[in-house]
Amino acid sequence: MRAYDIIHKKRDGKKLSNQEIEFLIKGYTKGEIPDYQMSAWAMAVFFQGMDKEETAKLTEAMAKSGDNIDLSSIKGIKVDKHSTGGVGDTTTLVLAPLVAACGAPVAKMSGRGLGHTGGTIDKLESIAGFSTALSMDKFIDSVNQNKVAIAGQTGNLAPADKKLYALRDVTATVDSIPLIASSIMSKKIASGADAIVLDVKTGNGAFMKSYEGAVKLAKTMVEIGQEVGRNTIAIVSDMDQPLGWAVGNALEVKEAIDTLQGEGPHDLTELCLTLGTQMLLLAEVANSTEEAREMLERAISDGSGLDKLKELITNQGGNPEVVDNPNLLPQAKYSLEVKAPRGGYVQRIEAEEVGISAMILGAGRETKESEIDLAVGLTLAKKVGDQLTEGETIATLYYNDKTKVKEAKEILLKAYQIGNTKPELNPLIYEIID
Ligand code: URA
Ligand code: CA
Repeated sequence: MRAYDIIHKKRDGKKLSNQEIEFLIKGYTKGEIPDYQMSAWAMAVFFQGMDKEETAKLTEAMAKSGDNIDLSSIKGIKVDKHSTGGVGDTTTLVLAPLVAACGAPVAKMSGRGLGHTGGTIDKLESIAGFSTALSMDKFIDSVNQNKVAIAGQTGNLAPADKKLYALRDVTATVDSIPLIASSIMSKKIASGADAIVLDVKTGNGAFMKSYEGAVKLAKTMVEIGQEVGRNTIAIVSDMDQPLGWAVGNALEVKEAIDTLQGEGPHDLTELCLTLGTQMLLLAEVANSTEEAREMLERAISDGSGLDKLKELITNQGGNPEVVDNPNLLPQAKYSLEVKAPRGGYVQRIEAEEVGISAMILGAGRETKESEIDLAVGLTLAKKVGDQLTEGETIATLYYNDKTKVKEAKEILLKAYQIGNTKPELNPLIYEIID
């Protein structure tokens, strides 16, 4: 077999065999197939696409290219949740304890990542003492004992994807649905999930900006799940404005605590209940959507979700007092209220711009080397559809570096579009695909 022939075949729009896909991925992982051939192949896939079987095979080959985490000693069905990003997405911090409180095991591996704010691991590190560097034994024992643990990704998970993703990034081949779908799913499979709930975002702040693209991506990932025997459900949700109020690390931990107390933002709460429902169904701890939703709502109203968060924090070395006293989280030295330049209704909030504003204050990483300031970020006081008067506060910026605040404020103001009429609101959840 030769890489040349495989590239040629895909270039001409033909279907690749399982052996050909495996040959390519194995060869590339070992360094036997060079970057230039892999780039040409990725570009051929970009133009010609791949069918369901090819995409599933590629996913499996990448999942097998490195370590495969064995969670079989954890009792029950392990459901993982993945979100395709967005701005101010605090769902994991809410869902992990909430779903665990309902009896489903949550063995969550998370990353740091680039972006407007840190990843889940960064956010958790704003809790003093909290360690996400767990040994595999401790990770598994914790889930067996407490139903929940959150660890930083370790080991060599899907190295083929890591290499290929980096290559796609510099060869304009990232936005190919079969390549994105196989990339995301290969990592979930390698990290040991029995079943997967996906939150595919659409809109201005999403990775997949178009609605059609998001639905296609969601369907492709659900099909991969079927092909490889991991039950998968996808939700397509709105990311045309940031989720919740808070964008920032410690600020989002506080928002997660509020949400577990039943006092969180409506959109974040609703999204967590929707995703949590699917997780409980896949974990087979609930028999119907109604039952699952009731269980989750009860875990909020009776405080068991919040108690589970305390247990999680204690078990991983953190100070659980932050839950009752969020002022113990890192606090920024300064704050600035951003005022509405005119009255009317909020027509649009460009999520991407809000994210950039938070990043400029230091909440996120521009490059892998950037240091995050866990205390900084912003909270939105007004969301799409809200009425406001001139001079009313639309958002508050929290910062430590005075040289950054002017630019952050300007970008935030640009993100808000204010008009005279009440706009029509996007649905939060567009579709559930299973
Ligand atoms: N996220 C991933 O993990 N992979 C992609 O290809 C795109 C987004
Ligand atoms: Ca948020």
